Amino acid sequence: MKPSLFTHLCIDFLRIALGVATTQHGKTCILSPLGVGKDDTDQVLAAISRCGKGGHTVFRPGGFNITRKMTWELEDATVDLWGYLNFQPDIQYWLNYNNTYRVVFVQSQALWFVVTGSDFIIDAHNAGGINGNGQPWWEYFTQHTKADGDGRPISLTVYQAQRATIKGFRIESPPFWSNCVAESQEITYDGMFVNATNTNSTFFGQNIDPNTDGINTFRSNNINLFNWDITCGDDCLAIKGNSTNIHASNYTCRGGNGVAFGSLGQYVDLPDYVENVLLEDFTITRLDHSIQPNMGGGVYFKTWTGETVGVPPTGGGGGTGKVENVVPRDFTLNLVDRPVHVYQTNGGNSSETPSELQFADLSFMNWRGTADTNRVIDIECSAAAHCPGMVFSDFNIELAPSNLTARYTCINVVSERGIAGPCNATT
Ligand SMILES: *[C@@H]1O[C@H](CO)[C@@H](O)[C@H](O)[C@H]1NC(C)=O
Ligand SMILES: *[C@@H]1O[C@H](CO)[C@@H](O)[C@H](O)[C@H]1NC(C)=O
Ligand SMILES: *[C@@H]1O[C@H](CO)[C@@H](O)[C@H](O)[C@H]1NC(C)=O
Ligand SMILES: *[C@@H]1O[C@H](CO)[C@@H](O)[C@H](O)[C@H]1NC(C)=O
Ligand SMILES: *[C@@H]1O[C@H](CO)[C@@H](O)[C@H](O)[C@H]1NC(C)=O
Ligand SMILES: *[C@@H]1O[C@H](CO)[C@@H](O)[C@H](O)[C@H]1NC(C)=O
Ligand SMILES: *[C@@H]1O[C@H](CO)[C@@H](O)[C@H](O)[C@H]1NC(C)=O
Ligand SMILES: *[C@@H]1O[C@H](CO)[C@@H](O)[C@H](O)[C@H]1NC(C)=O
Repeated sequence: MKPSLFTHLCIDFLRIALGVATTQHGKTCILSPLGVGKDDTDQVLAAISRCGKGGHTVFRPGGFNITRKMTWELEDATVDLWGYLNFQPDIQYWLNYNNTYRVVFVQSQALWFVVTGSDFIIDAHNAGGINGNGQPWWEYFTQHTKADGDGRPISLTVYQAQRATIKGFRIESPPFWSNCVAESQEITYDGMFVNATNTNSTFFGQNIDPNTDGINTFRSNNINLFNWDITCGDDCLAIKGNSTNIHASNYTCRGGNGVAFGSLGQYVDLPDYVENVLLEDFTITRLDHSIQPNMGGGVYFKTWTGETVGVPPTGGGGGTGKVENVVPRDFTLNLVDRPVHVYQTNGGNSSETPSELQFADLSFMNWRGTADTNRVIDIECSAAAHCPGMVFSDFNIELAPSNLTARYTCINVVSERGIAGPCNATT
């Protein structure tokens, strides 16, 4: 055995024995779960406070019991998460406004876990991540009203962070959105697995987990989403206001509503800008009806109307802005209801003032697979903001059942190209 390797083993042994050690690369903290009935929140926060700046934190396998809201401030740091952060399913505790953070402005969402800082890596090695214990939450909300900003917590929020990587991360049973990236730049998610699947047979055939989105992006620039596998009851990816330079690649959506741009235009005083979004190598696939009945969209775009009715998080509308240069390419669909859908009457109706938020330059390239309705392309732009540059190439979605005839709708579209049949371009 070479002395250098032996020395390393000794240092590793010391680190393990002491739980914390100093090396030339900074401190290392190693944690193991305390065990059934014990609360791990203190030891997790202590480790991040000791080793989260210029250091290395290692979570051993197992479940870490997290009982209160938690922020990790990481700078120039690495976290190896071989276990799960297990958020205790005390619904009434988390629904108390004071027990979550409310830093994600859009729809006043609640959060129980915030990661912030710069130049860090969180690697969960496809072995760990977060267990949101969502099953009792989903069941609770079959009996209680669901509303935007009602306090259901986002599982993992990257907030005001820069130059960071989240790798090989798993989120089991999120009660609500599994991820959110807000007010951040240069964040790469490489390997994200989410599974929001109801396992109570009483609810088979129903979607009891709406809002279990894969991720929402908000006020963020240069975000990479590579190698995602999302099973959920809602948007597998939702791009909200002021998301720019977003690149998603190799992304599987199992059940739910597909990829959303929106809702946009909810805040009358805050225009939403979305620019340069490349989505490539997506598979969007329907699940067994008893497990998840929804497979609503391929990619859909939605704004509120031009009228402000009520106030956010539940009401709103009247916001302006623009979505431009969006390229969804290399998509495979399996029995999706509406492959491409644009509408500008979310939360309102067509007799309200039309939205001024504009969609421009959306290019759908190389699409394959099947739709289970005839609404293959349905682009309904606002009378107050017509859409230029709706481009389709190599767009081959077949209909199942095959006795249907494809229907193409283009309303208030300035220019479109590549649609396989007549698109009733009215007004
Ligand atoms: C988590 O910690 C709390 C104490 O704060 C305890 O009551 C609960 O049983 C623990 N949960 C688990 C799964 O160990
Ligand atoms: C939240 O905290 C504030 C300030 O401490 C307090 O006034 C309020 O009653 C608390 N709300 C709840 C629901 O506990
Ligand atoms: C998601 O969880 C359900 C229920 O545990 C399981 O049957 C299913 O295989 C999981 N999905 C994936 C993609 O692993
Ligand atoms: C399934 O949900 C029903 C209705 O809420 C509940 O009564 C039952 O206990 C649940 N089953 C399990 C195994 O949790
Ligand atoms: C695509 O992502 C999945 C994980 O969701 C991964 O297993 C697979 O290797 C990736 N494919 C490529 C070509 O990288
Ligand atoms: C988006 O950014 C613009 C400035 O570029 C700002 O005026 C607007 O308020 C922002 N909107 C949101 C939702 O933050
Ligand atoms: C449409 O919206 C307006 C304004 O919010 C409302 O007064 C009206 O009742 C709505 N009409 C329908 C048919 O829902
Ligand atoms: C298409 O076929 C299905 C059975 O495969 C049938 O239920 C449906 O009514 C048919 N629709 C039309 C428009 O003929």
